[in-house]
Amino acid sequence: MENSEAKKVIFSGIQPSGNITLGNYLGAIKSWVKLQEDYDCYFCVVDLHAITVPQKPKDLRSKTLELLSIYLAAGIDPEKNTLFIQSHVPAHAECGWLLTCNSYVGELSRMTQYKDKSKKFGDSIGAGLFMYPVLMAADILLYQTDLVPVGKDQTQHLELARDLANRFNNAYSETFKIPTGYIPKEGAKIMSLQEPTKKMSKSDENVNSFILVMDPPEVIRKKISRAVTDSVGVINYTEEQPGVKNLIDILATIKGENPFDIVKNYENLGYAELKKDVADAIIEELAPIQARALELQKDKKALEEIYRNGAQKASYVANKTLRKVQKKIGFIPR
Ligand code: TRP
Repeated sequence: MENSEAKKVIFSGIQPSGNITLGNYLGAIKSWVKLQEDYDCYFCVVDLHAITVPQKPKDLRSKTLELLSIYLAAGIDPEKNTLFIQSHVPAHAECGWLLTCNSYVGELSRMTQYKDKSKKFGDSIGAGLFMYPVLMAADILLYQTDLVPVGKDQTQHLELARDLANRFNNAYSETFKIPTGYIPKEGAKIMSLQEPTKKMSKSDENVNSFILVMDPPEVIRKKISRAVTDSVGVINYTEEQPGVKNLIDILATIKGENPFDIVKNYENLGYAELKKDVADAIIEELAPIQARALELQKDKKALEEIYRNGAQKASYVANKTLRKVQKKIGFIPR
């Protein structure tokens, strides 16, 4: 760790609000494993974000530990990175409030994710969903983050984090590093297996639209065999065949190959062969992760030690930033 001063800081997180999908794994976690060598990474289980919608306490508990075990099983090393549970570092909630008082209702109302959700819920949309981008800004800014690996759906939230950081720096003095987005080279956006123009989502009502990291092999085979394709009958990598393209993307990401090279292997083959290979690849990729995650979930003591150490490392850095912010605002130092 002698080098950690010089390394750029990365922060990212996933909500423990449901089962982790192949999309979360291939789009985020798998690419994080590669980042840990070159960056000072903070990978968080963002449980404060998960409660923006109602959660059953029992499920929240088990999903939080499951997500942490998947991070570890996928190969994220708790010694090289800071792996922690968001609610264990109170600075997130505190800094969230301080930033809230520097945010405008107007800018938060313009968040497309919020607008989409408020269409659905109207006035009974939770206030947490409205404030959530500010909490996300606190997550990022507390660690003086350089780079934030996020999908397209989060770029507007990242933009808000940059705006809030600049606004605070201008109103007081240089306090926060201005973060930028980072699109990992290997990361892929995995789409729904049933509506391949939509992102694969754990909150989708149709269970055939996603594969879970913890799905058993026979379920994976069944879901892939039911994946929506098209009537073209030829395997191409094109937006015109989004279902087939998604299957190729899954295969390419798992194998670390170029999608166009993958297509060449299927010149005279049909969708059934492609689907068989995709299912085989997913099963082979996930099997060791599943085994390790289950093992970790049984060893509560080991998990506890990991998340406690993580929270301690994270708190140290987060509190340093938080104290600066409090002092500049005019709070009496404790
Ligand atoms: N909002 C992100 C999502 O729903 C999760 C998240 C919370 C996050 N805090 C973050 C991602 C900070 C990156 C950085 O996907």
